[in-house]
Amino acid sequence: MILSPSILSADFSALGEDIVKIDKAGADYIHIDVMDGIFVPSISFGMPVIKSIRKCTDKVFDVHLMIDEPIRYIEEFKKVGADIITVHLEACKDVDATIKAIHDAGCKAGLSIKPKTPTEAIFPYLDKIDMALIMTVEPGFGGQAFLDFTTEKIVALRKKIDEMGLECDLEIDGGVNKENIDMLLKAGADVVVAGSAVFKGDVAENVKFFKERNTRHPLA
Ligand code: DX5
Ligand code: ZN
Repeated sequence: MILSPSILSADFSALGEDIVKIDKAGADYIHIDVMDGIFVPSISFGMPVIKSIRKCTDKVFDVHLMIDEPIRYIEEFKKVGADIITVHLEACKDVDATIKAIHDAGCKAGLSIKPKTPTEAIFPYLDKIDMALIMTVEPGFGGQAFLDFTTEKIVALRKKIDEMGLECDLEIDGGVNKENIDMLLKAGADVVVAGSAVFKGDVAENVKFFKERNTRHPLA
């Protein structure tokens, strides 16, 4: 499994140190949540912060854009160090053009759906993207409880990706913890975002715990 700790749960007064900690502990990606106060009720941070933390680690920057019409900012996110840019299907007027803009910028493209968006809505894009993100909480805040009904969506999306024989990764985000991780990997996730479950308590031990989980989709 690929572990992508969300820095939304880090200590922002020591953000660089927290990133070095998860890097050293064996995290694969760094999950970076950008919120605009329009697509989601909250505002987090933007380009200057990403640019500055790019100096702390060589890990893949998995940038999750919870912003309206993200196509406006793809180039800028690439410039400050994004490797994977994930946008929300619900936030794009032209999803195809947005995916193309991400690829044209030289990044991997992710497409996300909110819990109440039907899984099938993402199917037409699966062969054009590198990662599909199933939100397992309402986007906007860290530390929320996992929404049980989203497990079925993970199963359905895994089935579709396998049926189509695609390389597309399946990422999950929100409410992942030590109790539900095994069930979620079994359901078909292969990229796992965890915020509070990584940053609460001993960060190195938490990362190790998640990395030791098995997955039915081992990646080469
Ligand atoms: C929520 C964000 C998540 C969040 C996850 O909108 O997209 O990445 O930080 O935090 P936890 O793992 O605490 O639910
Ligand atoms: Zn996220």
